[in-house]
Amino acid sequence: MSVTALIVAAGSGQRMGGDVPKQYRRIAGKPILRWAAEALLSHPAVRRLRVIVGDGQDELAGAALSGLNVGDLITGGQERSDSVRAGLRTVDDEAVLIHDAARPFCPPAVIDRLLPALEFYEGAAPVMPVGDTLARSGDLLGEPLDRTGIVRVQTPQLFRLESLRRAYDLWEGPSPTDETTVLRAAGMSVASVPGDPALEKLTTAADFERAQAWLAGTLV
Ligand code: CTP
Ligand code: MG
Repeated sequence: MSVTALIVAAGSGQRMGGDVPKQYRRIAGKPILRWAAEALLSHPAVRRLRVIVGDGQDELAGAALSGLNVGDLITGGQERSDSVRAGLRTVDDEAVLIHDAARPFCPPAVIDRLLPALEFYEGAAPVMPVGDTLARSGDLLGEPLDRTGIVRVQTPQLFRLESLRRAYDLWEGPSPTDETTVLRAAGMSVASVPGDPALEKLTTAADFERAQAWLAGTLV
């Protein structure tokens, strides 16, 4: 099965803050977006990689990705799902792998686990268990929630191209935070495979610092 990978990198990184959107911050001298792009490009199943960037950020993205085989940059939209839809219009492979630029480290084994699932399912995603107690938030802690059978869903996520396109055509809700949500709403089946701690999304400045420290630890 031929796979195009899309990296969505058109966000503004409000929760992370800083001078540049978080995907252009550097870890060990390399922009986060470049870490993500190199990880996907190095997987033998990925035939082609396209990157979706914010309006007016071609220069930043071009510098971050220089020398990598990513073709023309695609301009994203207001919401993450708008950026994904913009990317989808450029895909003609049977399957599409969608990944957040904010997840710089993608172990190849995760992609290896996603690929066989497409034989039986319309999509597949890596998941992680929930470690903490869950409760409704508030100044006074709200009702506790049963975390049995609850998982956190990561990217990269793999889909049959036609299924994902059809699911997005049917989607009527507010902007979804990922594509498994869109497929499930359309009644399609999404397999879950074990995720990886290396894939945690960098959302806040503390996440960024943790990733830096983690990488420094792996390099010594
Ligand atoms: N993204 C995108 N287009 C958007 C919004 C988000 O391509 N309009 C991308 C981000 O660049 C990121 C991924 O979607 O790689 C996950 O989104 P998130 O972690 O929310 O990043 P931001 O939207 O940039 O951050 P924030 O929500 O804190 O502003
Ligand atoms: Mg966001």
